[in-house]
Amino acid sequence: MTAPVEGARSPRTGSTRRQFLLGGAVAGVGAVAAVGADLALNRPDATPEPASVPMNGDETVPFFGAHQAGIDTAAQAHGVFVGLDLHDDVDRDALARLMRLLTDDAARLTQGLPALADSEPELASSPARLTITFGVGPGFVGRAGGSTPAWLAPLPAFGVDRLRPDFSDGDLLLQIAGDDPLTVAHATRMLLKDARGFASIRWTQQGFRRAYGTERPGTTMRNLFGQVDGTTNPQPGTEDFDRVVWIDEGVLAGGTGMVIRRIRMGLDKWDRLDRSGRDASVGRTLANGAPLTGREEFDEPDFEAKTAIGFPVIPQFAHIRRARGEGAERIFRRAYNYDERPAGAEVSESGLLFVSFQADIERQFIPMQRRLDELDLLNEWTTPIGSAVFAIPPGCTEGGFIGDTLLRGR
Ligand code: HEM
Repeated sequence: MTAPVEGARSPRTGSTRRQFLLGGAVAGVGAVAAVGADLALNRPDATPEPASVPMNGDETVPFFGAHQAGIDTAAQAHGVFVGLDLHDDVDRDALARLMRLLTDDAARLTQGLPALADSEPELASSPARLTITFGVGPGFVGRAGGSTPAWLAPLPAFGVDRLRPDFSDGDLLLQIAGDDPLTVAHATRMLLKDARGFASIRWTQQGFRRAYGTERPGTTMRNLFGQVDGTTNPQPGTEDFDRVVWIDEGVLAGGTGMVIRRIRMGLDKWDRLDRSGRDASVGRTLANGAPLTGREEFDEPDFEAKTAIGFPVIPQFAHIRRARGEGAERIFRRAYNYDERPAGAEVSESGLLFVSFQADIERQFIPMQRRLDELDLLNEWTTPIGSAVFAIPPGCTEGGFIGDTLLRGR
């Protein structure tokens, strides 16, 4: 298996017309002008910077479409997640007004345009692949008057859970992701300003991956344990991905189910584990993410292989063996790392904003999480401290709004 499964440029990501114009049209004169400017400024060490260099800040991801962006989009460097609670007086009509407003903001901001009445319009001009994805919780769907899929409810309690209400549940989810933290912060603020008449913040969570340009596109991310995380993921743009992720019928057709769990990673305890123990806990090497039975990251693990003395090479307790089970359940993971101020004597308060998308949480996610709850060596160092489930409505066309199928169809 050779396909890079994560961070690959999805069809949503590409050069925009704006970037083309900035790059192509200015090429030629740009380089000359830049050299001239440097000479004029008398900066002997300044290297000319051709205006044709494509800037990632100019890249946009289309907002309108059959699916919301931010799911099959190659994961951006920064992700902010906000869980909102609807005010008591927000009814079905108010929900439609709210979602119209937020959709309009998102459609503009993701394309590098200021939101209406944007207080800092200059901050909108470098979208840097900004995506804004909306999710609805059980409370939202209840007020919309629609029927909820059975899985749109808090997950069952698991033995490993130590959940905190301030990182769990919520009526409305905003996922704001982009390659530039300033753009992401501005977009988040604009959305929250428009939402505040309808809802209040229940929790916010911030996550990060490698900065844009640090690694080649297509490189699987690493988490704060140092593990290559996301190797075995369905590949966006394939039928496999479509089957795993998109709901194919009802008012949510074209949407998906989202699980977000804040999983604390005990780095201080992990520090005491040697390298072979670290590799064994997952069943893959830290060096390049290859399975313990292979050499390259995308080699297929051999779960039958035995050591000279008859033990499985990939241990029974290894995370990948337990997560895969018989292979019947599949999910698409799109996680972010978090790293906060430590409390007490520890030097780390870090973990994973585990985010997965799947068409049916009951059928795909829950059996997998049950298996991991029963046995997974990684549980020694990981603790879920937050958990929420949202339905991600389908995308919309221009003139429509996210959630319109829920709010129209009854
Ligand atoms: C902090 C918690 C977690 C860490 C550090 C972690 C880390 C990893 C790593 C390093 C891999 C191997 C590379 C890969 O294929 O991505 C992996 C695989 C996987 N993980 Fe996790 N994981 C965590 C939580 C979870 C949870 C909560 C689930 C789902 C309930 C999950 C589901 C999976 C799946 C499905 C795979 C691929 C298994 C296969 O090879 O078929 N992980 N994880």
